[in-house]
Amino acid sequence: MSSGGKKLIVFYSLEGNTRVMAEAIAQAIDGTLLELKPVKDVSGSGFGKYFWGGKQVMFKEKPELQAFNLNPADFDTIVLGTPVWARSYAPALNTFLHQYPLTNKKIALFSCFGGSSGKTYDSIKRLIPKNSFIGEIGFKEPLKNQLEQQKQQAINWAKGLAL
Ligand SMILES: Cc1cc2nc3c(=O)[nH]c(=O)nc-3n(C[C@H](O)[C@H](O)[C@H](O)COP(=O)(O)O)c2cc1C
Repeated sequence: MSSGGKKLIVFYSLEGNTRVMAEAIAQAIDGTLLELKPVKDVSGSGFGKYFWGGKQVMFKEKPELQAFNLNPADFDTIVLGTPVWARSYAPALNTFLHQYPLTNKKIALFSCFGGSSGKTYDSIKRLIPKNSFIGEIGFKEPLKNQLEQQKQQAINWAKGLAL
């Protein structure tokens, strides 16, 4: 059963953690999934990813995204999911939020991280302030830590959102 209008789950994931949580959340609230894919992404293997990924965040880069054929403006609720990079949100989300400056939406935020969510949620809220923020939650690398419990936590959180 779905309620509260159309829901979109927008996420980026380099190594799969954010993707599994996005999929669990989308199923829980009967939402549409939109995976952001940079045309040229950093390589997911080796330590270079921290350098190149961190650099993109520091310089607030907006990597070009692969095209998708839906309009975020058509949705009432948008769940934004990102891995934490350099204590903030991933560059692909930066591109998305500049291409689609969301307003008057219900927005829920989630992140996956190795240590902590840093300033991720505050930074997103500052970038798109004219919305109603209805929830936020973080997960410590679910693919490595209690995946099933963390997925259930995500599902419970999503079902409890005031959609
Ligand atoms: C470029 C880069 C920067 C990162 N910076 C942070 C950080 O500042 N704080 C943190 O807790 N984890 C950091 N991490 C770890 C990721 O947030 C964590 O592994 C996350 O689960 C990855 O999600 P994904 O599998 O969806 O890509 C970083 C990872 C990468 C690749």
